[in-house]
Formats: sequence, C-alpha cells, structure tokens
Amino acid sequence: AGEYKTSSERSFIMIKPDGTSRQIVGDVIKRFEQRGYKLVAIKSLVPSQELAKEHYIDLASRPFYPALVKYITCGTPVIAMVWEGKDIIRQGRRMVGATNPLEADPGSIRGQYCISVGRNIIHASDAFDSATKEIGLWFDPKELADYEPIAAPMIT
Ligand code: PPS
Repeated sequence: AGEYKTSSERSFIMIKPDGTSRQIVGDVIKRFEQRGYKLVAIKSLVPSQELAKEHYIDLASRPFYPALVKYITCGTPVIAMVWEGKDIIRQGRRMVGATNPLEADPGSIRGQYCISVGRNIIHASDAFDSATKEIGLWFDPKELADYEPIAAPMIT
C-alpha cells in the first residue's frame, strides 16, 4: 500500500548473489530496458555486514534474518541498480514476481529462475518510502544520473 508518484519514480532493484552466480544479470537488465525503464545507477559490490543488516533492518526480528544477511554478504557480488519510470515501484515488483517462488508468476523473473524463497535471485523495493530509503543507503547522490535520453546519432 502507500502512495506512488506517477512519473520520474525510482526503485532500488538488486540482483542477489545467486542471481549473479546464475548469470542472469543481462536478462534482468534487458527486461527492465525493454519494458521502457531508464537505468540511472548501477554497481557491482560485495555488501558489508553493516549495509546488509541495515537494508533488511525491518526484518531483524525474523528467524531468517541472520541467514538472509549471510546470503547477501557471502562474497559473491550483488548488482545494485536504480531504475526510473512510470510506476516502476509497482511494476518492478510485478516483474520480479512474488517473494515465494511457488507463488511467482511463471513469466516473472523469480517465476522463471528460482524455486526457493531463501535463494530468490533479486530484490525490488516494495513502496515509495522503502525505495527512497534503499536508494539513499546504497548510492551516493552523485552516483545517480539525471539525464534525458539522446536521439540516435545522425549520419553526416
Ligand atoms: S514480510 O515482512 O513477511 O512481508 O517479508 P517478505 O516480503 O516475505 O520477505 C522479506 C524479505 O525476506 C526474504 N525472506 C527470506 N530470506 C531468506 N530465507 C527465508 N526463509 C526468507 N523469507 C523471506 C524475502 O526474500 C524478502 O527479501 P527481498 O530481498 O526484500 O525480496
């Protein structure tokens, strides 16, 4: 629930270590590009314990929290991205698919690539407030590109 902006909305999308290992990075990027979204930031990194814990801080009381932090910080890089465009927060969640792969639409990223909630390939912000928090946590404002797409070059 919550309110969503209708334009220039941004979401934090992260390919988790298993997604990097499974070499689906290109497919994930391609899906968002082809849907019409704009990539405004991307980096590959191995998150620190502090970063992973803070990212999932709302889940700190859940029994799977330590395992989740361990998984995200296992040493294989994650691909942290910020995507921008109309309804990207809700559309990003739909494109990623339900958290539990058993419930993920077969056409979604999780529905195509995974079978386990503990190895579900990818994360997408679930609301405007969490997107704002997550983008601020993972990126310095200077890393966020603010650009208009340019026209194809003309042959002269
Ligand atoms: S909630 O609060 O119940 O709605 O949580 P949920 O949306 O189901 O899940 C929040 C994130 O926790 C991850 N998760 C797990 N990770 C590892 N093991 C287990 N068992 C597990 N259950 C849930 C889930 O993938 C969500 O991560 P993100 O990265 O936000 O998708």
